[in-house]
Amino acid sequence: MTKGAVMLLVLFITVLSAVSEAHRPGNRALAHGRRPGADPVAPTHLHFYFHDSSRGTPPTSVRVAGPAKPSLQTLFGAVYVMDDPLTERPELGSAAVGRAQGFYIGADQTAMGFLQVMNLVLTSGAYNGSSLTVLGRNFPLAEVREMPIVGGTGAFRFARGYAQARTYSMNTKTGDANVEYDVYVMHKHANI
Ligand SMILES: *[C@@H]1O[C@H](CO)[C@@H](O)[C@H](O)[C@H]1NC(C)=O
Repeated sequence: MTKGAVMLLVLFITVLSAVSEAHRPGNRALAHGRRPGADPVAPTHLHFYFHDSSRGTPPTSVRVAGPAKPSLQTLFGAVYVMDDPLTERPELGSAAVGRAQGFYIGADQTAMGFLQVMNLVLTSGAYNGSSLTVLGRNFPLAEVREMPIVGGTGAFRFARGYAQARTYSMNTKTGDANVEYDVYVMHKHANI
C-alpha cells in the first residue's frame, strides 16, 4: 500500500468508529439528556384529600405568628403551621395516604393569597417513605390553585412537577377545609 492509501484507510476507520459510537442506543439517550430505558414523558399522578382544621381537637394547623388583628379578607402576615392528614377518599376516616407538613403565610395585601411551603410525606402504598416538596402560591378562593413541586426524596429524587388544589368542602365559620389534590410529578424511577 502507498502512504496515501494507508492514510485514507486510517481516516475511514476513524470515521466509521465515530459514527457507530454515536449510534449506540445509550449514547443517543444521553444526547437527549436521559437514561436509556427511562420513560421520558409519563408523570406520576397522585390523588388525595387534604384536611386542614384549626378548630379540630387536636387542631391540625395552628397560627403561630402574625399581627394581633390580621385583615380577615387577606390574613396578611399570619403564619400557620400545619401537619394535615392526607386521605384516599374525601372522608377523614378513609385510608391514610400521608401528611402535609409545613406552613402557610398570608403574603398578599389585596386578596387572600398564601405562600405555602410543605412536604407531602407519603406513608402508604408504592411511595411509602418518599416525600415531595411543594413551594407556591395558594389563593384559596380560586377554583384551582397550582403550586410547583420543587423536589423530593426516595422514589421522588429529582422530582419536578405541579400540584393542583381544589376545595372539596369548607366550613366558612371556622375556615376548616377539605381540599382535593392532584399531583403530577416527573422523577427518576429507579437505580439512582
Ligand atoms: C410504611 O412504611 C413503614 C416503614 O417501613 C412501615 O412501618 C409501615 O407499615 C408502612 N405503611 C404501610 C401502610 O404500608
